[in-house]
Amino acid sequence: MSKRKFFIDTDTATDDAVALVMALQHPDVDVLGISTVAGNCTIEQATQNALYTRDLVGSTVPVHVGANGPLMRPLQTAHHVHGKDGMGDIGLPLHSRKPASHRGVQAMIDAIMNSPGDVELVTLGPLTNLALALRLEPAIVGALKRVVTMGGTAVLPGNITPLAEFNFWVDPEAAAIVTNSGLHFEMAGWDISTAHAVIHDELAAELRSLGTLGQFAVDIQGVLREFCRTETVLDGFDLPDPLAMAIALDPSIVTREAQHFVDVIPGDSAARGQTIVDERGASGKDVNCRVIYEADRDRFLHMLHQALRDAGPGN
Ligand code: RIB
Ligand code: CA
Repeated sequence: MSKRKFFIDTDTATDDAVALVMALQHPDVDVLGISTVAGNCTIEQATQNALYTRDLVGSTVPVHVGANGPLMRPLQTAHHVHGKDGMGDIGLPLHSRKPASHRGVQAMIDAIMNSPGDVELVTLGPLTNLALALRLEPAIVGALKRVVTMGGTAVLPGNITPLAEFNFWVDPEAAAIVTNSGLHFEMAGWDISTAHAVIHDELAAELRSLGTLGQFAVDIQGVLREFCRTETVLDGFDLPDPLAMAIALDPSIVTREAQHFVDVIPGDSAARGQTIVDERGASGKDVNCRVIYEADRDRFLHMLHQALRDAGPGN
């Protein structure tokens, strides 16, 4: 049976990196390409972090540089959450690797249009690249097999503001372009991350003991762990992108969902980046989203163990 085709868009920081490992290690998935986007960190850092992670598992997947900031506003990063280098500031050599191109948006379009109906797109950062791709080639709406997005909140609160999740907040105009493009996407929001993907210290120690990849996956979370201890007040660190990736890899781990029209509030009000889940159809707009409300934590953790246990060709 031929492998599934994935394309991943990422603002590569500490949770994105674990999600990349999960996809790159999966035996049934061929990652056609990775596009980087500014978000958690600068585009240069996101790109070097993605290249480092790819090399760590011995993959040669092309990494293409995408947008260096939001469509209409300055970039606001999350270095306070993921570290100055985006990878936990543990001294990893995150420099001098060469991306395949500086045309991340076109690479995303090409991958999709060259395999119509086959590509599953997973977005792990702000939706700047996807919004640009939709503007450049609207036909990707009909050509994509699936879109799984880590972003938004089906249930409040947000993480960057009481009303918004970081990916949608960084570039709310891009998110609103996506939600109003006719594209159908699956939303793995902040709420299910805090509910089902918190890694407490004992579990982190267990993951770390799995070997090189387990050590990497845990050691880069140190800054995030402190942020969770003091700010988000979680009993561990949470892994939103790996949970979204697990859902992309195995949609059946979702245990509660609904189909609704979802929109995102642009602009600079207190509601910047807020997710609107139209549960009662008040907007009269067509459903565009598989809203994910709950997922199976045990099955997620099994997938995480599996990815971190297997030594990739580069180990
Ligand atoms: O709000 C969490 C999301 O924002 C994750 O994707 C994290 O990596 C950051 O991009
Ligand atoms: Ca991310």
